[in-house]
Amino acid sequence: MEPNPELYGLPFTVDGFNGMPFRRLGSTGLRVSNVGLGAWKFGFPETGDDSRVDQEAAFQILDRAIVLGVTFWDTANRYNNSSGNSERILGRWLRQNPDQRRNVVVATKCFGAMDGRSPNHCRLSRTNVLESVYASLRRLQVDCLDVLYFHNWDPETPVEESLAAVDDLVRRDLVRYFAVSNFSVEQLALYRALEREFGVRARIAAVQNRFDLLTGENAKHAGALEYCARAGIAFVAYSPLARGLLTERYLDPAKAGPGDRLYDEGDLGQQASAATLAKLKKLNAVAHEAGLKLGQLVLAYMLTLPGMGPLIPSSSSVEQLEANAAAGKAQLSGETCDRVRAILSSEE
Ligand SMILES: NC(=O)c1ccc[n+]([C@@H]2O[C@H](COP(=O)([O-])OP(=O)(O)OC[C@H]3O[C@@H](n4cnc5c(N)ncnc54)[C@H](OP(=O)(O)O)[C@@H]3O)[C@@H](O)[C@H]2O)c1
Repeated sequence: MEPNPELYGLPFTVDGFNGMPFRRLGSTGLRVSNVGLGAWKFGFPETGDDSRVDQEAAFQILDRAIVLGVTFWDTANRYNNSSGNSERILGRWLRQNPDQRRNVVVATKCFGAMDGRSPNHCRLSRTNVLESVYASLRRLQVDCLDVLYFHNWDPETPVEESLAAVDDLVRRDLVRYFAVSNFSVEQLALYRALEREFGVRARIAAVQNRFDLLTGENAKHAGALEYCARAGIAFVAYSPLARGLLTERYLDPAKAGPGDRLYDEGDLGQQASAATLAKLKKLNAVAHEAGLKLGQLVLAYMLTLPGMGPLIPSSSSVEQLEANAAAGKAQLSGETCDRVRAILSSEE
């Protein structure tokens, strides 16, 4: 007799949300969307906080992100001139959408000074870790942080002090998962060893380091992606689109102007060298043949790399979000991946 599906009700497990495939955050049980959302540039530009996306535009992006299953949201206490405004925008949205709280994985970071005056309100001392988290919880208007990153390595605080602080937060359920950012292989390995020695619950789930297909990792953090693949840590690449360079928008840099981030930040000329543009044009041709945009090919290819965790491109508009989200669902053929690899490794 065929089993009656109605007797079994809903499936025990699901692997995606609103059509977006998910992946585990390192070796943890936490699942996060293949493509998430970097919220660095969300804020109140009218106050001069150096953000680029105001509340109205950010809310449109966040509404659409839920529909597209883009639910891994990345921010930091310090984003936009240490204002806390990126967190505030997410907090206001979450307050207006309480039913969505359980669908979103909110990740934020602590380390840097917020007031710029007190030596005890920066770095990874017990005081700063605890107080930064309390402040982030208030701005984000949530009961717990799904992921807390240490934003940087702190050479001046004993690792056991920082780890004990985050472990206490985990035990109090103010933080669910722990991660680090801008760490080298040696620093990751040291944390891993001490986590074991002290038996803390706060084991590193992810490392957020800079990585894009053109420049790879930052020299001082080189090898972290490979380490993550071996250690069961998710490598969360920041600036995966090289701030927009790895999309079709700068293929003709002469067309860039005010409103384009690389132009506004003043380093388009340096970034868009003739050699880089030549590679981008070749990648663009491969993308078209695969039915994708250049930025989508870049993100989809990154998702195939061993150790790579979820991607967190910043989206400044709903259109960008839609393009980036589609990359999280794209399946690249082996041949397409081979062609991308060949272009990236060519010396021309
Ligand atoms: N841990 C750290 O130290 C650290 C450092 C930097 C960033 N991050 C995190 O990483 C996230 C992403 O990094 P990022 O903002 O530096 O760089 P990114 O994601 O590589 O680039 C984002 C920029 O690219 C453009 N863009 C995005 N999607 C596009 C699309 N589909 N088509 C065309 N252009 C598109 C937008 O530029 P326009 O604004 O010009 O439209 C956007 O601001 C941040 O939000 C932040 O959460 C972490």
